[in-house]
Amino acid sequence: MTRSLIAVIIAASSIAVLTGIVAAKDEATKGTQPGSVSRTDGLEAWKRIEAVVTHPRCANCHVDAKAIPIWTPAGETKPRVHGMNIHGGESRIGAEKLACSTCHMTSTQANEPAPAPPRAGIDWQLAPVAFIWFGKSGAEICAQLKDPKRNGGRDAAGLVEHLRHDASLNGFIPRGWAPGAGRTTPPGTFEDHVKDMALWGAAGQPCPN
Ligand code: HEC
Ligand code: HEC
Repeated sequence: MTRSLIAVIIAASSIAVLTGIVAAKDEATKGTQPGSVSRTDGLEAWKRIEAVVTHPRCANCHVDAKAIPIWTPAGETKPRVHGMNIHGGESRIGAEKLACSTCHMTSTQANEPAPAPPRAGIDWQLAPVAFIWFGKSGAEICAQLKDPKRNGGRDAAGLVEHLRHDASLNGFIPRGWAPGAGRTTPPGTFEDHVKDMALWGAAGQPCPN
């Protein structure tokens, strides 16, 4: 009896979450059917995406196989190697030495002001090696983001879906715009970024030369 009630509650709440995501997704992608956006507008959208993905709040986790996280403490604008000799390891979560979760809590609570370690609703970890952005040019990141072999098998719609899915978990991406008082944020808002991703996709994901 209790168990089936719980099942009903869980089912009802996940439907509520899902409809929320679908409605939000429809809103963001309105007027962005494939082919409905010109290459010029697509390249403009890419320029705005580039300013986000190269920002420290995003690129600091998207690092290479050396697995050294980067940080940009409050009052600084330039990224530098994470203090305290932290290493993500092959696990990307620091399991081999000191787990990221020792300091970066898994929590949906808002971030505390800097210098408290930022947190998220999912376990803190480096992005997979193939998703490397740190130290890469905009054109290189553009080529990576549109390549399903290097982006987790995502087409243009899949990238927009990833942004929504991450937001539904209170993940790393929306938190780039709410990193804890004192830290800089990427230009625009999370919603602007979702719209730009949809525009870029509808234009056929054009990249600068
Ligand atoms: C705490 C580390 C961390 C931060 C900060 C972070 N990411 Fe990520 N990112 C990840 C991880 C881990 C994945 C892999 C998740 C997956 O594929 O399901 C990922 C995957 C992605 C993907 C999937 C496709 C690809 O090629 O990368 C996108 C898009 C993305 N992140 C965007 C962003 C943006 C935009 C920001 C900043 C607003 C950001 N991330 C900040 C860790 C991070
Ligand atoms: C001993 C505590 C500690 C551990 C362990 C730790 N961190 Fe951090 N980390 C911090 C603190 C504190 C900050 C905030 C620095 C600041 O902004 O002043 C931070 C910031 C960061 C940032 C920068 C976030 C941003 O928005 O610029 C990244 C990326 C990061 N950590 C990744 C990791 C990863 C990945 C791991 C595990 C491999 C890890 N950290 C393990 C304490 C830790």
